[in-house]
Amino acid sequence: MTRAREDTGADLHADDAAALEADLLAGFFDDPPTVPPRWFYDEKGSRLFDRITRLAEYYPTRAEAEILRAHAAAIVGDSTTLVELGAGTSEKTRVLLDVLAGRDGGGVTGNGVAGGGPCTYVPVDISTEMLAESSRALAHDYPGLRIEPVVGDFVALDGPLPGEPGQRLVLFLGGTIGNFTEDQRAEFFAMLRRIASPGDRIAAGFDLVKSPERLVAAYDDAEGVTAEFNLNMLDVIAATVPCSGLHRDNFRHEAVWNEQCSRIEMWLRAVRDVRIDFPSLDLARTLAAGDGIRTEIARKFRIDDLVDEVSGHGFAGPGVWTDPAGDFGMVVAVVE
Ligand code: SAH
Ligand code: AVI
Repeated sequence: MTRAREDTGADLHADDAAALEADLLAGFFDDPPTVPPRWFYDEKGSRLFDRITRLAEYYPTRAEAEILRAHAAAIVGDSTTLVELGAGTSEKTRVLLDVLAGRDGGGVTGNGVAGGGPCTYVPVDISTEMLAESSRALAHDYPGLRIEPVVGDFVALDGPLPGEPGQRLVLFLGGTIGNFTEDQRAEFFAMLRRIASPGDRIAAGFDLVKSPERLVAAYDDAEGVTAEFNLNMLDVIAATVPCSGLHRDNFRHEAVWNEQCSRIEMWLRAVRDVRIDFPSLDLARTLAAGDGIRTEIARKFRIDDLVDEVSGHGFAGPGVWTDPAGDFGMVVAVVE
C-alpha cells in the first residue's frame, strides 16, 4: 500500500477520469445501467454521508457504535496495526484507537507503544479531502499513535499490509461489505486472504435483515438527505468526465427492498426521456421516463450466511456480536 499523496492536483483527477470511464464501460451500458457507489464520495458526498449517519431513520451507525463500545478491547486484541478500509471520518473507530493508544497501561493516557514501536492506524479511503481532514484530527488527538493514511481503492489493494505479520487488524465498518455484489464480496475476501498473513484478524460490520419498512426508511429519509446523496453522484460524474444528460433535474431518488436478493437498492429514476452522451467514450444511451440507473446495493444478511462465507475463505473461528436490539452485526475472524 502506498501512503497518501499530499497533492490533490491534476494527476489525481486524471486518475479519477480514467477510473470512472472504466466503471462506466463496465456497467453503464448494461441493463439496467449501474454505477459503483464509490462515485458518491467526493467531498460533498462524504459530508452528506456523515449527515446520514446522524439521521433518526439510519440506525446502522448507532448500532455498530454500540457494538464497538461494548467489545473494543476484544476487537483490538493484541493487534499493533489497525488498517481500516473505507474509514471515512473514523469517528466510530476512536473507541478502538483509545484501546490501541492505551496499550501500555490502560486508559487513553498510555503512549500506544507495543514491543518495537508505536502502534499504527492506517485509514484507507478514496475520499481524499475527508481522509486528510480526519487524519489531521487523529494525529492531534492521538499523539502516541502513528497515523498513516492511504488514498486508495479498497478492492484493489496490493500487499503486503502495513505492520507486523500476525499483528494486524483489518477493519471494515459501516456495513460497507453489503455494498458488494455476491461475486465482489467473494473477490474481496480472497484479496484480503492474499494480502494478510496468518494470525492477522478481520472485523467487519454488517447489517441484518429486518422489516422492509425500516430498511426503506433508512435509505429514503424524511429530510431528503439520502436523496441528495444519491443525486450528488450525477454531479460527481459530470465533474469527472465530459457528459450531457446526467442532470439532477432529469432524475429522482428511489430506494427499494429487493426481497429475493435480500438487499436495498438505490436507483436514480429518469423523470423524462433522457439522452446521455459520453463524448470521450464515444458512447451514448437513451433512458425512457421511468428507467433507472442503479447506484448502490446494500445487502442485508442473516448471521449464518456471513459466518459460513468467512470460514469458506480461510478465516478461522468467526465470532459475531450484535447490538442489543439485534439490528446490526460484527464478525471477527483470524487469518489461517
Ligand atoms: N467506515 C465509515 C464510512 C462508511 S461510508 C463508517 O462506518 O461510517 C463508505 C466509505 O468508504 C466512504 O468514506 C467512502 O469514501 C469509502 N469508499 C467507498 N468506496 C471505496 C473504495 N472503492 N475504495 C476506498 N474507499 C471507498
Ligand atoms: C457506506 N454504506 C455502508 C452505506 C449503506 O448503508 O449502504 C451507504 C449509504 N447509502 C445510503 N445511505 C447510506
